[in-house]
Amino acid sequence: MAIFIPEDKISEIKNTVDIVEIVSETVLLKKTGRNFVGLCPFHSEKTPSFTVSPEKQIFYCFGCGTGGNAISFLMKQEGISFPEAAKRLAKRYGIDIPTKTISAEQRKQISQKESLLHLNRQALNFFRQALVETVAGKRALSYLKGRGFSDEIMDRFHLGYAPRGWDNLLRFLSKKHISTALAETAGLVIARKDKSGYYDRFRDRIIFPILDVNMNIVGFGGRVLDDSEPKYLNSPETPVYHKSRTLFGLCSARDKCRVENSVYIVEGYLDLLALHQHGIENSVATLGTALTAEHIRLLTRYTRRMVLVYDSDEAGIRSAQRCIDTFWKEHVDFQREDVFREEKADTHILVLPDGDDPDSYLLKYGPEAFVATAAQAPGIISFLIDRAIEKHGLSTEGKIQIVSDLHATLAAINDSVARSLYVKQLSERLDIDEAVVLEKIRVAALRKPQAISDRRSPSSSASAMSASESLMTSGQKSLSEVGSRIEQQIIAMMLQFPQILPQIESRDVLEHFESNILKSIGHTLLHHKFKSAAQVSELLNFIEEPEKKRLVAALALTDESWDENGCRKLINQFVETIQRRQKSKLMDDKIKAAELKNDKQLLYKLLKEKQKIAIQSAKQKITLLSNK
Ligand code: UTP
Ligand code: MN
Repeated sequence: MAIFIPEDKISEIKNTVDIVEIVSETVLLKKTGRNFVGLCPFHSEKTPSFTVSPEKQIFYCFGCGTGGNAISFLMKQEGISFPEAAKRLAKRYGIDIPTKTISAEQRKQISQKESLLHLNRQALNFFRQALVETVAGKRALSYLKGRGFSDEIMDRFHLGYAPRGWDNLLRFLSKKHISTALAETAGLVIARKDKSGYYDRFRDRIIFPILDVNMNIVGFGGRVLDDSEPKYLNSPETPVYHKSRTLFGLCSARDKCRVENSVYIVEGYLDLLALHQHGIENSVATLGTALTAEHIRLLTRYTRRMVLVYDSDEAGIRSAQRCIDTFWKEHVDFQREDVFREEKADTHILVLPDGDDPDSYLLKYGPEAFVATAAQAPGIISFLIDRAIEKHGLSTEGKIQIVSDLHATLAAINDSVARSLYVKQLSERLDIDEAVVLEKIRVAALRKPQAISDRRSPSSSASAMSASESLMTSGQKSLSEVGSRIEQQIIAMMLQFPQILPQIESRDVLEHFESNILKSIGHTLLHHKFKSAAQVSELLNFIEEPEKKRLVAALALTDESWDENGCRKLINQFVETIQRRQKSKLMDDKIKAAELKNDKQLLYKLLKEKQKIAIQSAKQKITLLSNK
């Protein structure tokens, strides 16, 4: 809906919403100090760089540099416009927004995404009706019944039927005055090669609508009723449908995933339906694609224990390998890995016996048996070790072959703790010396630049990191490279304790800054008469340069508490440092002059003086450090 929201309503929304609450709906947040951290929903990462400050009502990702307030979070997260996000928040917090009726002009502006979702809903109505109310649909209904699916489950998943014929949906949509071009974008109709028109993509198929977590219909899957090929057809990628980010059944499963603290991930539409029908509702399905890192990330919002269910060893092995590739290699931040280990997905592989898929397994053995075997499902590495032992046996040759099969996989694990545990596990299972396995892995790791960098920093502190420290590990220019520590502290203080701004101004503190970027941030703060720490969120909106944005966020989010006294001390300390620096420069100039004149006596005197100053300043530094 195109809507106009008055400025005062926007402020009311901003003042009412709680960013932690909003973000928590989609990101699992953990409190560290004054902030919350979690895995960034906007880029793929395994250690949290996504920081939310309840005090300042801002979020910032130190990994990808995305940041803003609650409204910008929703915009980005849901892919919606500013007014849409504001409207949604207003509704949630019970703030009334006077809406105007939409004009013809505004109607045109309704976003393409909304139109696609609307179209998909219309199409689903058509498919539903065709299944439930038409004679042709009876065949589909009886097929589903024959496979053991109840009316209740068909309703719950809004199953439909696409009738036989080339233009049933086309004609329905044209009656509804929905543009064929839009239907083509939605992937529901396909243009004829000779450009003479369009035809329906889904014909004589059972239809599975694909819903996102907001219950939007983003795409469709369709299964034939006989043995013809292809068995399944899926919507193509569209502006609202991305296979690598979509999981079938997630909107029905997510609450259960939280409650059960686990999720089953299967490959098939009907497998998923079977699980839900048998009461195993913490289940989702991938849709004709392999499991991606995005899928995993999506699921980690609800649970960390994931059981990947496959109907064959090969599929399981392939998937396990892929998981290691995508989840352990990608975006690994070797310095922080240990700190956030518990944040990672705990992934298990379940291969069902005798080529059963979840659907057939449940029909044969029932849900209790399924849950019981799933509880025994090995972690992905254990799974790979088991398979290798099965394949090669435990003879000497077999063991050599196993180590050779697995060493590259183990070397790819950048999490040093996990890796050493797995190495231990492998050497115990094979009853060989751990050192032998380690040596093999070391050689493999040397060939991989990423794994090498991991080796260089074997240990990392287990303490929670401050925001500024995590910035240093985020591949961006680190904080330590920007200005001196004291200059950074002053900017942090200005951001977090704006009462101090007048003093900064009157004492000309910024003029002595060596870092231009910090100086310019400081001036921005003074210029905008920045009044409260909560305004950082506004500030982030109008700072354009990413580097600056990152610094402001990093410095605004450091875990320090400021008071008048502490601030004055810091300023004094800075001014003293500057004075010392000036004195020392003056001294150096004098020394140079004495050298030029070859005035040995003066030179001796000056050098002595310089030494005295150096000792003094060293003493001062020590006191400062011990005061900190
Ligand atoms: P399966 O062929 O194992 O089908 O494909 P299934 O789920 O067991 O289906 P039934 O029980 O025979 O009806 C597993 C999944 O792979 C995708 C679908 O998501 C399917 O559910 N797939 C399969 C396709 O996308 N296209 C195909 O042609 C086949
Ligand atoms: Mn099946």
